[in-house]
Amino acid sequence: MATADKEVETTGLTGWIDRRFPLTSTWKKHVSEYYAPKNFNFWYFFGSLALLVLVNQIVTGIFLTMNYKPDATLAFASVEYIMREVPWGWLIRYMHATGASMFFVVVYLHMFRGLMYGSYRKPRELVWIFGCAIFLCLMAEAFFGYLLPWGQMSFWGAQVIVNLFSAIPFIGPDLSLWIRGDYVVSDVTLNRFFAFHVIAIPLVLIGLVVAHLVALHEVGSNNPDGVEIKAKKDANGIPLDGIPFHPYYSVHDFMGVCVFLLIFAAIIFFAPEMGGYFLEANNFVPANPLQTPPEIAPVWYFTAFYAMLRATTDPFKIVLMIVIALLGVLALVKARGKWKLGLPVLAVLVLIFMALTESKFWGVVVMGTAVVSLFFLPWLDRSPVKSIRYRPLFHKVFYAIFVFAFLMLGFLGTRPPSPAATLIAQICALIYFAFFLGMPFWTPRGKFKKPPERVHYKPH
Ligand code: HEM
Repeated sequence: MATADKEVETTGLTGWIDRRFPLTSTWKKHVSEYYAPKNFNFWYFFGSLALLVLVNQIVTGIFLTMNYKPDATLAFASVEYIMREVPWGWLIRYMHATGASMFFVVVYLHMFRGLMYGSYRKPRELVWIFGCAIFLCLMAEAFFGYLLPWGQMSFWGAQVIVNLFSAIPFIGPDLSLWIRGDYVVSDVTLNRFFAFHVIAIPLVLIGLVVAHLVALHEVGSNNPDGVEIKAKKDANGIPLDGIPFHPYYSVHDFMGVCVFLLIFAAIIFFAPEMGGYFLEANNFVPANPLQTPPEIAPVWYFTAFYAMLRATTDPFKIVLMIVIALLGVLALVKARGKWKLGLPVLAVLVLIFMALTESKFWGVVVMGTAVVSLFFLPWLDRSPVKSIRYRPLFHKVFYAIFVFAFLMLGFLGTRPPSPAATLIAQICALIYFAFFLGMPFWTPRGKFKKPPERVHYKPH
């Protein structure tokens, strides 16, 4: 049957489907006629790799669930059963556990790319916000999943993190009791964490990934030059610097997938525990509520935020109070309109509240703010250009210091605390916040290079 819509196939099975479902038009819109900038580089592999790891986690997770028992008396033994008795069970489990760490490696690199090329700037704010929500969900997913093997670290890690909520004034103790469903982490907690890990969070995560990609395809991809390719189109309305995603980037991404799988397989087969960073030795010991392990540290992907939590000691709270007081004075001097009085009053209220509450609570606030600040990046950055390539040298230096401080925090979070380590973590935490919250002040300053009209591209 002929139809007026040129997107619609008229013959065969595809034609039959197209008259009932937008198959060909969706394929064209999102794949074969999605025009991506032709200058994508190494950093653009990580989006498709994140998708690959997501699929890996879901598929291996389904197979693990077939043999895992979400029961405090059986959970540990069921994981050992998967490792020793279930055919290929060890492989499925290592693919899932190592996959969790690789997910964070890939997503951190993906986020760093966004930071470097200003991919969060207009018109991609929603792509970024969906991304930040994905990051939050991933953290929740990893945290809930970590309890399931019911090892010593699973148990005590959950105990420590849930107890943090009890530091919240007034509602804290009731809130942590409500989360656990018991006075200590127990079978009840394991059951609800299992429900969150296998269905609730994955559903939200998949929904957010779809929203992330739909938002991206609505506005089009950014690129290492930060040039909007839609600004220059040919007579057919196709961006002059765009190439169809398929076959050009599907082939390109396939190469990235092959290299990634080589690395992933090497880790799974030769170093699945990664020297204790991916799977900790203490988690091969069954959970014992009567014996606290000497060191309780989260897995590496949480350690930067954990180090900030530990760094928030009483003296650090006073430093934070001084910073807030100074910001209040600055607002009084510099701000205009309703902010002139509003911000200093807010600063005084926060200071009174800080004086009345314990530093443990502020540690939780610092840790939470470190993640939540990411959501505001599109409005904090006021630089006239997107990509780092065209920014002043001092911007590049700031980025480098920020990355160093974040990695240092990550490293310190894996080490036992000491006075020197705490001091370094405090300095790094201040750098982290100064980088983000200072952005409205430092990003518009300096001598910028003029971005090109068209993207830079060398055929290879
Ligand atoms: C499950 C996790 C994620 C998946 C599967 C995913 C997937 C993707 C894919 C396939 C792309 C297009 C290819 C590319 O540009 O690399 C993309 C782009 C993007 N993602 Fe993600 N992403 C995830 C998490 C995140 C997170 C956590 C953030 C930031 C907080 C983020 C921010 C962005 C941005 C800003 C872009 C546009 C980049 C540009 O056009 O330059 N994504 N994502």
